[in-house]
Amino acid sequence: MRTCALLLAVTVAAAAFGGAQAVGRRSFWRPRWQPLPTPPAIVATCQAAHDADKRVNVTFCTNIFGLLRPHDSTVRGLAQAAASMGAGRADTAQTTIDRTLSQGGVDDPRARRALERCDRLYGSAAAAFNAAGKAITEGRYADVGRSLEGVSELGRQCDSENPPASSGNLAPLWIFSRANEQLTYLTIAITSLIK
Ligand SMILES: *[C@@H]1O[C@H](CO)[C@@H](O)[C@H](O)[C@H]1NC(C)=O
Repeated sequence: MRTCALLLAVTVAAAAFGGAQAVGRRSFWRPRWQPLPTPPAIVATCQAAHDADKRVNVTFCTNIFGLLRPHDSTVRGLAQAAASMGAGRADTAQTTIDRTLSQGGVDDPRARRALERCDRLYGSAAAAFNAAGKAITEGRYADVGRSLEGVSELGRQCDSENPPASSGNLAPLWIFSRANEQLTYLTIAITSLIK
């Protein structure tokens, strides 16, 4: 439960503090939560990934890697990190859905069914990201795009049936769909840069 809350907090922080790096870079006092500047090698890879696929959002990319600090910031390391984050986010989405369902806050059968479908959608996304990560580890780079085919849309398919988070006590699932979409593009685009 605590781990889950922490993961969710990281997710929300990544989403909420999207532009935090630019703010106060030169200022003397820096609040503790503010990410450190993203290393130049990561910024360069994010830019190259955007050049490979214009749907890749450079700000999202630098923020997410800047926040999570992958140990290995080579191109291959970042491709693996993107796949692993995609799986992690999808897992967290599932945990959030399971918690919402098990807390019994969703009485409307249609809303329940929509959430159960989201659970399956994010389950597929997690499996696909895990398969993509394995393919990168094993050097089967061509399999990465195949593993992730259609995955960018899974989060939005969930959102389209789910009422917005503001209505009642449903989980704020929209947090996950943009990350799911971006991490799909990123994993494929960064993999394409591996030499
Ligand atoms: C790119 O990502 C940033 C941070 O996540 C976000 O603020 C911005 O709106 C995104 N841009 C586009 C075009 O989606």
